[in-house]
Amino acid sequence: MTRAVLQTVFVGALLLLGERTSAAGGKRRCINSSQLDRRVRQYYEYWNATSISKVLAQDARTCAQAATDMQGNVERRSLSPWKHYIDHDVNRIPPKISFAKCLCRGCILRKKEQNDYNSVTVFSELMVLKKTPCPSDPQQYVVRKGYIQVPVACTCVVPKYVK
Ligand SMILES: *[C@@H]1O[C@H](CO)[C@@H](O)[C@H](O)[C@H]1NC(C)=O
Ligand SMILES: *[C@@H]1O[C@H](CO)[C@@H](O)[C@H](O)[C@H]1NC(C)=O
Repeated sequence: MTRAVLQTVFVGALLLLGERTSAAGGKRRCINSSQLDRRVRQYYEYWNATSISKVLAQDARTCAQAATDMQGNVERRSLSPWKHYIDHDVNRIPPKISFAKCLCRGCILRKKEQNDYNSVTVFSELMVLKKTPCPSDPQQYVVRKGYIQVPVACTCVVPKYVK
């Protein structure tokens, strides 16, 4: 790498670190409900623009059922099909997020689950807000930015072979 590239990487890492540090600890400023509403509205502009914000149909197929009916949306036609469920956290903004869960341990090939392949979860990083009561005033809130890994899909991989 050239010096310029190295410097860019370094500055990028610092920015990222700054973000993480303020998310993890940082200031614990208490805000009132109208200030909270504003933070939440601003957040929802970001959230609405993400592809994760869509509410997805939930169903409860088993791997064997999925194997016989590989039609419809990508999560149904995938060799490693998945389902969606709602992850609920009242202290998080947004409180409800669709999470993906793999239906099979193996992958579906020739209409059967084949265990010489593995279904693995694919994650996407999402910025969220964490809301807690203000220690000095229960009418107010402390709001902190954080990052979570949202399971969004499954993919079919060759197992890690031990040599
Ligand atoms: C919330 O705090 C802001 C800034 O301190 C203030 O202007 C506003 O009047 C407060 N709102 C309520 C509902 O207490
Ligand atoms: C986000 O989307 C929801 C539901 O579609 C809508 O009610 C809300 O007004 C949107 N918020 C913003 C800030 O765009």
